[in-house]
Amino acid sequence: MSEVKINTKRKLGFISKNIYGQFAEHLGRCIYEGLYVGEDSDIPNTNGIRNDVVAALKELDVPVLRWPGGCFADDYHWRDGIGPKEDRPYMVNTNWGGVVENNHFGTHEFFELCEQLGCEPYICGNVGSGTVQEMRDWIEYMTFDGDSPLANERKKNGREKPFKLKYFGVGNENWGCGGDMRPEYYADEFRRFCVFLRNYGDEPLYKIAGGPNSGDTNWMEVVLRNAKHAMSGISWHNYTYEGDWDHKGESYTFDENGWYSNMMDVERLREQLDQQLAVMNVVDPECKVDLIIDEWGNWFNVMPGTNPGFLYQQNTMRDAVSGMVLLHMFQEHCDRVKMANIAQMVNVLQSMVLTEGEKMIVTPTYHLFRMMKTHQDSERVDTFYDAKAYEFNGRKIPKISISSSVKDNALTITIANTRLDEDEELEIEIDREYSEISAQVLTAADMCDFNTFDEPEKVKPSALDAKLSGNKIKVTIPKMSVSSIVLK
Ligand code: AHR
Repeated sequence: MSEVKINTKRKLGFISKNIYGQFAEHLGRCIYEGLYVGEDSDIPNTNGIRNDVVAALKELDVPVLRWPGGCFADDYHWRDGIGPKEDRPYMVNTNWGGVVENNHFGTHEFFELCEQLGCEPYICGNVGSGTVQEMRDWIEYMTFDGDSPLANERKKNGREKPFKLKYFGVGNENWGCGGDMRPEYYADEFRRFCVFLRNYGDEPLYKIAGGPNSGDTNWMEVVLRNAKHAMSGISWHNYTYEGDWDHKGESYTFDENGWYSNMMDVERLREQLDQQLAVMNVVDPECKVDLIIDEWGNWFNVMPGTNPGFLYQQNTMRDAVSGMVLLHMFQEHCDRVKMANIAQMVNVLQSMVLTEGEKMIVTPTYHLFRMMKTHQDSERVDTFYDAKAYEFNGRKIPKISISSSVKDNALTITIANTRLDEDEELEIEIDREYSEISAQVLTAADMCDFNTFDEPEKVKPSALDAKLSGNKIKVTIPKMSVSSIVLK
Protein backbone atom coordinates (compact mmCIF):
# COMPACT_ATOMS: atom_id res chain seq x y z
CA MET A 1 0.00 0.00 0.00
CA SER A 2 1.38 3.42 -0.98
CA GLU A 3 0.31 6.72 0.46
CA VAL A 4 -0.65 9.78 -1.54
CA LYS A 5 -1.20 13.14 0.13
CA ILE A 6 -3.05 15.95 -1.61
CA ASN A 7 -3.08 19.50 -0.29
CA THR A 8 -5.79 21.38 -2.18
CA LYS A 9 -4.86 24.65 -0.50
CA ARG A 10 -1.38 24.63 -2.02
CA LYS A 11 -1.96 25.82 -5.58
CA LEU A 12 0.94 25.22 -7.94
CA GLY A 13 -0.16 26.98 -11.12
CA PHE A 14 -2.94 27.31 -13.65
CA ILE A 15 -3.35 24.41 -16.11
CA SER A 16 -4.37 26.00 -19.39
CA LYS A 17 -7.04 24.06 -21.22
CA ASN A 18 -4.87 24.46 -24.31
CA ILE A 19 -2.56 21.70 -23.01
CA TYR A 20 -5.32 19.43 -24.31
CA GLY A 21 -5.07 20.91 -27.83
CA GLN A 22 -5.16 19.01 -31.11
CA PHE A 23 -3.41 19.16 -34.48
CA ALA A 24 -4.87 18.45 -37.94
CA GLU A 25 -2.63 18.47 -41.00
CA HIS A 26 -3.21 17.87 -44.69
CA LEU A 27 -1.59 14.49 -44.26
CA GLY A 28 -2.96 11.12 -45.32
CA ARG A 29 -6.62 10.75 -44.36
CA CYS A 30 -6.66 13.34 -41.58
CA ILE A 31 -8.46 16.18 -43.37
CA TYR A 32 -9.99 14.42 -46.38
CA GLU A 33 -12.18 11.49 -45.31
CA GLY A 34 -11.28 11.89 -41.60
CA LEU A 35 -12.77 15.33 -41.04
CA TYR A 36 -13.98 16.62 -44.36
CA VAL A 37 -15.99 14.67 -46.92
CA GLY A 38 -17.58 17.51 -48.89
CA GLU A 39 -21.23 18.59 -49.05
CA ASP A 40 -22.13 15.99 -51.70
CA SER A 41 -20.88 12.98 -49.74
CA ASP A 42 -23.23 10.16 -48.65
CA ILE A 43 -21.50 10.32 -45.26
CA PRO A 44 -23.70 12.56 -43.08
CA ASN A 45 -22.07 15.98 -42.90
CA THR A 46 -22.68 19.62 -42.13
CA ASN A 47 -21.14 21.91 -44.72
CA GLY A 48 -18.88 19.04 -45.74
CA ILE A 49 -17.62 18.21 -42.23
CA ARG A 50 -18.42 14.71 -40.88
CA ASN A 51 -21.16 14.73 -38.24
CA ASP A 52 -20.02 11.50 -36.53
CA VAL A 53 -16.43 12.68 -36.08
CA VAL A 54 -17.46 16.12 -34.83
CA ALA A 55 -19.93 14.57 -32.36
CA ALA A 56 -17.20 12.30 -30.97
CA LEU A 57 -14.62 15.09 -30.74
CA LYS A 58 -17.04 17.46 -29.03
CA GLU A 59 -17.02 15.06 -26.07
CA LEU A 60 -13.36 15.97 -25.55
CA ASP A 61 -13.98 19.73 -25.21
CA VAL A 62 -11.19 20.34 -27.74
CA PRO A 63 -9.81 23.77 -26.73
CA VAL A 64 -7.63 24.63 -29.74
CA LEU A 65 -6.84 23.14 -33.14
CA ARG A 66 -3.61 23.68 -35.10
CA TRP A 67 -3.76 23.65 -38.93
CA PRO A 68 -2.75 23.25 -41.85
CA GLY A 69 0.58 21.62 -40.81
CA GLY A 70 3.20 20.50 -39.96
CA CYS A 71 5.51 20.30 -42.92
CA PHE A 72 2.52 20.98 -45.16
CA ALA A 73 2.26 24.52 -43.75
CA ASP A 74 5.52 25.67 -45.36
CA ASP A 75 4.33 24.43 -48.77
CA TYR A 76 0.80 25.84 -48.45
CA HIS A 77 -0.45 28.91 -50.26
CA TRP A 78 -3.66 30.12 -48.69
CA ARG A 79 -5.03 31.69 -51.87
CA ASP A 80 -5.33 28.20 -53.38
CA GLY A 81 -7.90 27.35 -50.69
CA ILE A 82 -10.48 30.15 -51.02
CA GLY A 83 -13.29 30.93 -53.47
CA PRO A 84 -15.52 28.53 -55.42
CA LYS A 85 -14.25 24.97 -55.02
CA GLU A 86 -14.32 24.25 -58.74
CA ASP A 87 -11.90 27.14 -59.34
CA ARG A 88 -9.39 26.15 -56.67
CA PRO A 89 -6.08 24.97 -58.14
CA TYR A 90 -4.75 21.49 -57.46
CA MET A 91 -1.32 20.93 -55.96
CA VAL A 92 0.90 17.95 -55.18
CA ASN A 93 1.34 17.26 -51.49
CA THR A 94 5.07 16.64 -51.78
CA ASN A 95 5.56 16.10 -48.05
CA TRP A 96 2.94 13.43 -47.61
CA GLY A 97 2.66 10.68 -50.18
CA GLY A 98 2.80 12.86 -53.29
CA VAL A 99 -0.98 12.81 -53.56
CA VAL A 100 -2.98 15.49 -55.32
CA GLU A 101 -4.50 18.06 -52.97
CA ASN A 102 -7.59 19.73 -54.41
CA ASN A 103 -7.68 22.53 -51.84
CA HIS A 104 -11.37 21.97 -51.10
CA PHE A 105 -10.60 22.32 -47.41
CA GLY A 106 -9.19 25.81 -46.99
CA THR A 107 -9.43 28.81 -44.67
CA HIS A 108 -13.25 29.06 -44.54
CA GLU A 109 -13.67 25.32 -44.05
CA PHE A 110 -11.11 25.35 -41.23
CA PHE A 111 -12.96 28.07 -39.35
CA GLU A 112 -16.22 26.20 -39.94
CA LEU A 113 -14.66 23.09 -38.37
CA CYS A 114 -13.47 25.12 -35.36
CA GLU A 115 -16.93 26.62 -34.96
CA GLN A 116 -18.54 23.17 -35.06
CA LEU A 117 -16.04 21.88 -32.47
CA GLY A 118 -16.29 25.05 -30.36
CA CYS A 119 -12.50 25.45 -30.28
CA GLU A 120 -9.97 28.21 -30.94
CA PRO A 121 -8.20 28.15 -34.29
CA TYR A 122 -4.41 28.09 -34.40
CA ILE A 123 -3.00 28.66 -37.90
CA CYS A 124 0.58 27.99 -38.93
CA GLY A 125 1.86 30.24 -41.73
CA ASN A 126 4.32 29.58 -44.53
CA VAL A 127 7.86 30.91 -44.01
CA GLY A 128 9.75 28.22 -45.94
CA SER A 129 8.29 28.76 -49.42
CA GLY A 130 6.04 31.75 -48.81
CA THR A 131 6.56 35.49 -48.71
CA VAL A 132 6.05 38.15 -46.08
CA GLN A 133 3.39 39.73 -48.31
CA GLU A 134 1.50 36.43 -48.63
CA MET A 135 1.44 35.98 -44.85
CA ARG A 136 0.45 39.58 -44.06
CA ASP A 137 -2.34 39.41 -46.64
CA TRP A 138 -3.72 36.20 -45.15
CA ILE A 139 -4.00 37.88 -41.74
CA GLU A 140 -5.79 40.88 -43.28
CA TYR A 141 -8.09 38.60 -45.30
CA MET A 142 -9.10 36.71 -42.19
CA THR A 143 -9.30 39.39 -39.53
CA PHE A 144 -9.91 42.90 -40.98
CA ASP A 145 -13.37 44.29 -40.28
CA GLY A 146 -13.15 47.36 -42.54
CA ASP A 147 -13.33 48.13 -46.23
CA SER A 148 -10.25 46.73 -47.98
CA PRO A 149 -9.80 44.62 -51.11
CA LEU A 150 -8.82 41.61 -49.00
CA ALA A 151 -11.65 41.98 -46.48
CA ASN A 152 -14.10 42.48 -49.35
CA GLU A 153 -12.81 39.33 -51.03
CA ARG A 154 -13.51 37.41 -47.82
CA LYS A 155 -17.04 38.84 -47.78
CA LYS A 156 -17.54 37.85 -51.41
CA ASN A 157 -16.47 34.34 -50.41
CA GLY A 158 -19.29 34.17 -47.90
CA ARG A 159 -17.88 35.50 -44.64
CA GLU A 160 -19.11 38.99 -43.81
CA LYS A 161 -17.66 39.33 -40.31
CA PRO A 162 -13.95 38.78 -39.75
CA PHE A 163 -12.83 35.46 -38.38
CA LYS A 164 -11.57 35.50 -34.80
CA LEU A 165 -7.95 34.42 -34.79
CA LYS A 166 -5.53 34.66 -31.90
CA TYR A 167 -2.87 31.96 -32.33
CA PHE A 168 -0.57 32.25 -35.34
CA GLY A 169 2.60 30.24 -35.95
CA VAL A 170 5.36 31.78 -38.05
CA GLY A 171 6.61 28.67 -39.84
CA ASN A 172 7.00 25.05 -38.81
CA GLU A 173 10.20 23.10 -38.17
CA ASN A 174 12.25 25.70 -40.01
CA TRP A 175 15.37 23.73 -39.06
CA GLY A 176 14.07 20.94 -41.34
CA CYS A 177 11.08 20.66 -43.68
CA GLY A 178 10.32 24.36 -43.12
CA GLY A 179 13.45 25.58 -44.92
CA ASP A 180 16.53 23.82 -43.48
CA MET A 181 17.57 27.12 -41.85
CA ARG A 182 20.15 27.91 -39.21
CA PRO A 183 18.69 29.38 -36.00
CA GLU A 184 20.41 32.75 -36.59
CA TYR A 185 18.81 33.01 -40.04
CA TYR A 186 15.39 31.88 -38.82
CA ALA A 187 15.47 34.38 -35.94
CA ASP A 188 16.01 37.22 -38.43
CA GLU A 189 13.31 35.88 -40.74
CA PHE A 190 10.91 35.59 -37.81
CA ARG A 191 11.55 39.23 -36.84
CA ARG A 192 10.98 40.41 -40.42
CA PHE A 193 7.74 38.45 -40.89
CA CYS A 194 6.39 39.58 -37.51
CA VAL A 195 6.71 43.28 -38.38
CA PHE A 196 4.06 42.85 -41.06
CA LEU A 197 1.65 40.64 -39.11
CA ARG A 198 -0.72 43.41 -38.03
CA ASN A 199 -3.40 43.34 -35.39
CA TYR A 200 -6.71 44.04 -37.11
CA GLY A 201 -9.00 42.58 -34.46
CA ASP A 202 -9.57 43.58 -30.82
CA GLU A 203 -7.14 41.02 -29.55
CA PRO A 204 -3.46 41.13 -30.55
CA LEU A 205 -2.11 38.16 -32.47
CA TYR A 206 -0.33 35.66 -30.28
CA LYS A 207 2.74 34.97 -32.43
CA ILE A 208 4.44 31.61 -32.06
CA ALA A 209 8.01 31.22 -33.26
CA GLY A 210 9.13 27.98 -34.88
CA GLY A 211 11.07 26.32 -32.09
CA PRO A 212 13.53 23.46 -31.77
CA ASN A 213 13.29 19.74 -32.23
CA SER A 214 13.59 17.50 -29.15
CA GLY A 215 17.05 18.04 -27.60
CA ASP A 216 18.27 20.95 -29.74
CA THR A 217 18.85 23.56 -27.03
CA ASN A 218 21.06 25.66 -29.33
CA TRP A 219 18.07 26.48 -31.57
CA MET A 220 16.06 27.44 -28.50
CA GLU A 221 18.80 29.67 -27.14
CA VAL A 222 19.69 31.45 -30.40
CA VAL A 223 16.10 32.11 -31.48
CA LEU A 224 15.12 33.35 -28.03
CA ARG A 225 18.17 35.59 -27.62
CA ASN A 226 17.66 37.20 -31.02
CA ALA A 227 13.90 37.42 -31.31
CA LYS A 228 12.14 36.93 -27.97
CA HIS A 229 10.85 40.51 -28.03
CA ALA A 230 8.66 39.66 -31.06
CA MET A 231 7.05 36.44 -29.84
CA SER A 232 4.40 35.37 -27.34
CA GLY A 233 5.39 31.73 -27.51
CA ILE A 234 7.93 29.40 -29.04
CA SER A 235 7.04 25.95 -30.29
CA TRP A 236 8.76 22.70 -29.42
CA HIS A 237 8.31 19.35 -31.17
CA ASN A 238 9.14 16.10 -29.48
CA TYR A 239 7.77 12.73 -30.55
CA THR A 240 8.15 9.48 -28.61
CA TYR A 241 8.99 6.13 -30.16
CA GLU A 242 9.61 2.54 -29.18
CA GLY A 243 13.29 3.15 -29.80
CA ASP A 244 14.19 6.31 -31.65
CA TRP A 245 13.54 7.94 -35.05
CA ASP A 246 15.26 5.06 -36.84
CA HIS A 247 13.60 2.35 -34.72
CA LYS A 248 10.04 3.47 -34.31
CA GLY A 249 8.52 0.04 -33.59
CA GLU A 250 5.08 -1.27 -34.43
CA SER A 251 1.96 0.43 -33.13
CA TYR A 252 -0.03 -2.69 -32.18
CA THR A 253 2.31 -5.68 -32.23
CA PHE A 254 4.97 -5.32 -29.58
CA ASP A 255 6.34 -7.28 -26.64
CA GLU A 256 7.17 -6.26 -23.07
CA ASN A 257 10.42 -4.80 -24.26
CA GLY A 258 8.46 -2.62 -26.70
CA TRP A 259 6.16 -1.45 -23.92
CA TYR A 260 8.94 -0.45 -21.54
CA SER A 261 11.09 1.05 -24.31
CA ASN A 262 8.25 3.46 -25.05
CA MET A 263 7.90 4.32 -21.33
CA MET A 264 11.65 4.89 -21.29
CA ASP A 265 11.41 7.22 -24.27
CA VAL A 266 8.82 9.25 -22.37
CA GLU A 267 11.49 9.74 -19.69
CA ARG A 268 13.96 10.84 -22.40
CA LEU A 269 11.43 13.52 -23.33
CA ARG A 270 11.16 14.55 -19.65
CA GLU A 271 14.92 15.17 -19.54
CA GLN A 272 14.82 17.17 -22.76
CA LEU A 273 11.88 19.21 -21.51
CA ASP A 274 13.86 20.08 -18.38
CA GLN A 275 16.82 21.10 -20.57
CA GLN A 276 14.72 23.31 -22.85
CA LEU A 277 13.02 24.93 -19.85
CA ALA A 278 16.40 25.58 -18.25
CA VAL A 279 17.49 27.48 -21.37
CA MET A 280 14.24 29.43 -21.40
CA ASN A 281 14.68 30.31 -17.73
CA VAL A 282 18.15 31.71 -18.41
CA VAL A 283 17.31 33.68 -21.57
CA ASP A 284 13.81 34.70 -20.53
CA PRO A 285 13.84 34.82 -16.72
CA GLU A 286 10.74 37.05 -16.68
CA CYS A 287 8.82 34.13 -18.24
CA LYS A 288 7.42 36.32 -21.03
CA VAL A 289 7.64 33.60 -23.66
CA ASP A 290 5.41 30.55 -23.37
CA LEU A 291 6.41 27.05 -24.43
CA ILE A 292 3.98 25.69 -27.02
CA ILE A 293 4.46 21.94 -27.48
CA ASP A 294 2.55 21.94 -30.74
CA GLU A 295 3.57 18.46 -31.90
CA TRP A 296 3.89 15.50 -29.54
CA GLY A 297 2.73 11.92 -29.34
CA ASN A 298 3.80 8.38 -30.16
CA TRP A 299 5.18 7.86 -33.67
CA PHE A 300 5.33 4.21 -34.73
CA ASN A 301 5.71 2.44 -38.09
CA VAL A 302 2.77 2.81 -40.45
CA MET A 303 0.16 0.03 -40.48
CA PRO A 304 1.26 -2.69 -42.91
CA GLY A 305 -0.29 -2.27 -46.35
CA THR A 306 -0.99 1.45 -45.94
CA ASN A 307 0.66 4.33 -47.82
CA PRO A 308 3.98 5.03 -46.01
CA GLY A 309 3.44 8.76 -46.63
CA PHE A 310 0.13 8.72 -44.74
CA LEU A 311 1.56 7.86 -41.29
CA TYR A 312 -1.47 5.80 -40.31
CA GLN A 313 -0.98 3.83 -37.08
CA GLN A 314 -3.09 1.94 -34.53
CA ASN A 315 -3.47 2.89 -30.89
CA THR A 316 -3.29 0.68 -27.79
CA MET A 317 -3.18 0.93 -24.00
CA ARG A 318 0.50 1.78 -24.38
CA ASP A 319 -0.53 5.05 -26.05
CA ALA A 320 -3.01 5.86 -23.30
CA VAL A 321 -0.49 5.19 -20.51
CA SER A 322 2.44 7.07 -22.07
CA GLY A 323 0.00 9.84 -23.08
CA MET A 324 -1.11 10.35 -19.47
CA VAL A 325 2.46 10.45 -18.19
CA LEU A 326 3.28 13.12 -20.80
CA LEU A 327 0.18 15.20 -20.08
CA HIS A 328 1.05 15.07 -16.36
CA MET A 329 4.54 16.29 -17.28
CA PHE A 330 3.10 19.25 -19.20
CA GLN A 331 0.82 20.02 -16.25
CA GLU A 332 3.82 19.98 -13.90
CA HIS A 333 5.33 22.76 -16.00
CA CYS A 334 2.13 24.71 -16.50
CA ASP A 335 3.85 27.97 -15.56
CA ARG A 336 5.64 27.84 -18.94
CA VAL A 337 3.78 25.19 -20.98
CA LYS A 338 0.66 26.99 -22.14
CA MET A 339 -0.35 24.82 -25.06
CA ALA A 340 0.27 21.33 -26.40
CA ASN A 341 -1.17 19.80 -29.57
CA ILE A 342 -1.12 16.04 -29.92
CA ALA A 343 -0.31 14.75 -33.41
CA GLN A 344 -2.74 14.18 -34.89
CA MET A 345 -6.50 14.35 -34.34
CA VAL A 346 -7.78 11.82 -36.92
CA ASN A 347 -6.19 8.92 -38.89
CA VAL A 348 -2.50 9.88 -38.34
CA LEU A 349 0.07 9.01 -35.60
CA GLN A 350 -1.50 9.08 -32.08
CA SER A 351 -5.05 9.87 -33.11
CA MET A 352 -8.32 10.28 -31.23
CA VAL A 353 -10.48 8.92 -34.02
CA LEU A 354 -9.94 6.46 -36.89
CA THR A 355 -12.19 6.19 -39.93
CA GLU A 356 -12.70 3.71 -42.75
CA GLY A 357 -15.13 5.08 -45.32
CA GLU A 358 -18.35 5.81 -43.45
CA LYS A 359 -17.21 3.90 -40.33
CA MET A 360 -15.60 5.55 -37.32
CA ILE A 361 -14.03 4.30 -34.08
CA VAL A 362 -12.43 6.02 -31.11
CA THR A 363 -9.04 5.01 -29.70
CA PRO A 364 -7.61 4.49 -26.19
CA THR A 365 -6.03 7.96 -26.55
CA TYR A 366 -9.51 9.39 -27.17
CA HIS A 367 -10.69 7.85 -23.90
CA LEU A 368 -7.63 9.28 -22.16
CA PHE A 369 -8.43 12.83 -23.31
CA ARG A 370 -12.05 12.37 -22.25
CA MET A 371 -11.04 11.13 -18.81
CA MET A 372 -8.62 14.01 -18.29
CA LYS A 373 -10.76 16.88 -19.54
CA THR A 374 -11.71 18.08 -16.06
CA HIS A 375 -8.08 19.24 -15.68
CA GLN A 376 -8.70 21.89 -18.36
CA ASP A 377 -8.41 25.43 -16.96
CA SER A 378 -7.94 24.20 -13.39
CA GLU A 379 -5.45 24.90 -10.59
CA ARG A 380 -2.76 22.28 -10.12
CA VAL A 381 -2.52 21.28 -6.46
CA ASP A 382 0.24 19.79 -4.36
CA THR A 383 0.31 16.01 -4.64
CA PHE A 384 2.85 13.98 -2.71
CA TYR A 385 3.41 10.34 -3.64
CA ASP A 386 6.07 7.72 -4.06
CA ALA A 387 6.51 7.15 -7.79
CA LYS A 388 8.21 3.78 -7.10
CA ALA A 389 10.67 4.11 -9.94
CA TYR A 390 12.03 0.93 -11.51
CA GLU A 391 14.93 0.57 -13.90
CA PHE A 392 14.79 -0.38 -17.52
CA ASN A 393 17.97 -0.41 -19.63
CA GLY A 394 19.65 1.89 -17.13
CA ARG A 395 16.92 4.53 -17.03
CA LYS A 396 14.52 5.09 -14.13
CA ILE A 397 10.84 4.87 -15.02
CA PRO A 398 8.19 5.89 -12.47
CA LYS A 399 5.67 3.12 -11.85
CA ILE A 400 2.98 5.59 -10.84
CA SER A 401 2.28 9.03 -12.29
CA ILE A 402 -0.29 11.24 -10.55
CA SER A 403 -1.57 14.76 -11.09
CA SER A 404 -4.33 16.59 -9.20
CA SER A 405 -6.16 19.82 -9.84
CA VAL A 406 -9.13 21.77 -8.52
CA LYS A 407 -11.77 23.67 -10.39
CA ASP A 408 -15.17 24.92 -9.22
CA ASN A 409 -14.76 23.05 -5.92
CA ALA A 410 -14.19 19.70 -7.67
CA LEU A 411 -10.93 17.80 -7.29
CA THR A 412 -9.63 15.71 -10.23
CA ILE A 413 -6.96 13.08 -9.62
CA THR A 414 -5.55 11.19 -12.61
CA ILE A 415 -3.26 8.21 -12.15
CA ALA A 416 -1.27 6.05 -14.57
CA ASN A 417 0.34 2.70 -13.74
CA THR A 418 3.15 2.07 -16.22
CA ARG A 419 3.89 -1.51 -15.12
CA LEU A 420 2.68 -4.57 -16.98
CA ASP A 421 2.86 -6.93 -14.04
CA GLU A 422 1.83 -5.20 -10.80
CA ASP A 423 -1.28 -3.42 -9.55
CA GLU A 424 -0.78 -0.64 -7.01
CA GLU A 425 -2.86 -0.18 -3.88
CA LEU A 426 -3.17 3.47 -2.90
CA GLU A 427 -4.46 5.30 0.14
CA ILE A 428 -5.09 8.87 -0.88
CA GLU A 429 -5.39 11.40 1.93
CA ILE A 430 -6.80 14.82 1.11
CA ASP A 431 -6.69 17.94 3.30
CA ARG A 432 -10.49 18.25 3.22
CA GLU A 433 -13.56 16.08 2.93
CA TYR A 434 -15.69 15.52 -0.16
CA SER A 435 -19.10 13.90 -0.33
CA GLU A 436 -19.26 12.56 -3.89
CA ILE A 437 -16.84 10.40 -5.84
CA SER A 438 -16.86 9.17 -9.42
CA ALA A 439 -14.01 7.07 -10.76
CA GLN A 440 -13.15 5.49 -14.09
CA VAL A 441 -10.37 3.23 -15.29
CA LEU A 442 -9.11 2.37 -18.77
CA THR A 443 -7.22 -0.90 -19.04
CA ALA A 444 -7.18 -3.96 -21.30
CA ALA A 445 -6.76 -7.72 -21.11
CA ASP A 446 -3.65 -7.54 -23.28
CA MET A 447 -1.15 -4.70 -23.71
CA CYS A 448 -1.60 -4.87 -27.51
CA ASP A 449 -5.42 -4.66 -27.47
CA PHE A 450 -6.88 -1.96 -29.70
CA ASN A 451 -10.25 -1.00 -31.12
CA THR A 452 -11.17 -2.10 -34.64
CA PHE A 453 -14.09 -1.47 -36.94
CA ASP A 454 -15.31 -5.00 -36.09
CA GLU A 455 -14.68 -4.64 -32.38
CA PRO A 456 -14.97 -0.92 -31.67
CA GLU A 457 -15.34 -1.23 -27.90
CA LYS A 458 -12.58 -3.66 -27.04
CA VAL A 459 -10.76 -0.94 -25.08
CA LYS A 460 -13.08 1.39 -23.24
CA PRO A 461 -13.34 2.84 -19.72
CA SER A 462 -15.20 1.13 -16.91
CA ALA A 463 -16.07 2.07 -13.32
CA LEU A 464 -13.16 2.03 -10.89
CA ASP A 465 -13.84 0.77 -7.38
CA ALA A 466 -12.58 3.72 -5.29
CA LYS A 467 -13.85 3.91 -1.70
CA LEU A 468 -14.24 7.35 -0.16
CA SER A 469 -14.44 7.64 3.60
CA GLY A 470 -14.08 11.09 5.11
CA ASN A 471 -10.96 12.57 3.59
CA LYS A 472 -9.46 9.27 2.48
CA ILE A 473 -9.78 7.14 -0.64
CA LYS A 474 -8.73 3.52 -0.94
CA VAL A 475 -8.22 2.30 -4.46
CA THR A 476 -6.30 -0.32 -6.42
CA ILE A 477 -4.79 0.98 -9.65
CA PRO A 478 -4.52 -1.96 -12.06
CA LYS A 479 -1.35 -2.68 -13.99
CA MET A 480 -1.12 -0.94 -17.44
CA SER A 481 -3.99 1.42 -16.78
CA VAL A 482 -5.03 5.04 -16.60
CA SER A 483 -7.61 6.22 -14.05
CA SER A 484 -9.51 9.35 -13.26
CA ILE A 485 -11.15 10.16 -9.91
CA VAL A 486 -13.37 13.23 -9.53
CA LEU A 487 -14.48 14.39 -6.08
CA LYS A 488 -17.12 16.97 -5.27
O1 AHR B 1 3.12 15.19 -37.62
C1 AHR B 1 3.83 14.78 -38.73
C2 AHR B 1 5.01 15.69 -39.07
O2 AHR B 1 5.97 15.63 -38.06
C3 AHR B 1 4.72 17.15 -39.19
O3 AHR B 1 4.22 17.51 -40.43
C4 AHR B 1 6.06 17.77 -38.98
O4 AHR B 1 5.98 19.07 -38.45
C5 AHR B 1 6.75 16.80 -38.05
O5 AHR B 1 8.02 16.49 -38.47
